[in-house]
Amino acid sequence: MNYTEPYIPTPGDIIPKMLTLASVNPDETVFDLGSGDGRIVIAAAKDFHARVVGVEVRRRLVIECRRRVKEMGLSHQIRIWCRNFKKVSLREADVLAMYLSSYTLNLMAPKFMKELRAGARIVNFDYSIPGWRPEREIEVTPAGWRKPHPIFLYVM
Ligand SMILES: C[S@@+](CC[C@H](N)C(=O)[O-])C[C@H]1O[C@@H](n2cnc3c(N)ncnc32)[C@H](O)[C@@H]1O
Repeated sequence: MNYTEPYIPTPGDIIPKMLTLASVNPDETVFDLGSGDGRIVIAAAKDFHARVVGVEVRRRLVIECRRRVKEMGLSHQIRIWCRNFKKVSLREADVLAMYLSSYTLNLMAPKFMKELRAGARIVNFDYSIPGWRPEREIEVTPAGWRKPHPIFLYVM
């Protein structure tokens, strides 16, 4: 399979900042497109009391993530789909919280426009959506990193 993105986890201390920037409310539905080991998904469910969907194409990561979700007793709040996120409906999402490259965000932008409801929020670590104006941009320095990196917030 031709993966569009490598697996690079978001630094753990950045995740609450992303979810706070997106103003995730209890019972909202958060999607992580390319959910990796589930660190964003788990934080959104555990600390922000959201319902969460993680979409991940790498089976090994899906298995690891489902195991962690079960161990933490969060199965009632979290669904992990082993799917290509380009083929998943986003209509249910209130928030997308992701770590994807500008290249992939650009490919996904028409889908965001078509499927996300007005008022839905997108937060992405490190990379912007080409040609879109962010509602906010904050700089964060992950623990152990040398320089600050941006988190971008977009509101549909
Ligand atoms: C940069 S990593 C981010 C992982 C996780 N969201 C995090 O922040 O820790 C991007 C993830 O997207 C996944 N991915 C890449 N292309 C995908 C696709 N088309 N459908 C679903 N997942 C994909 C990769 O396997 C990888 O786990």
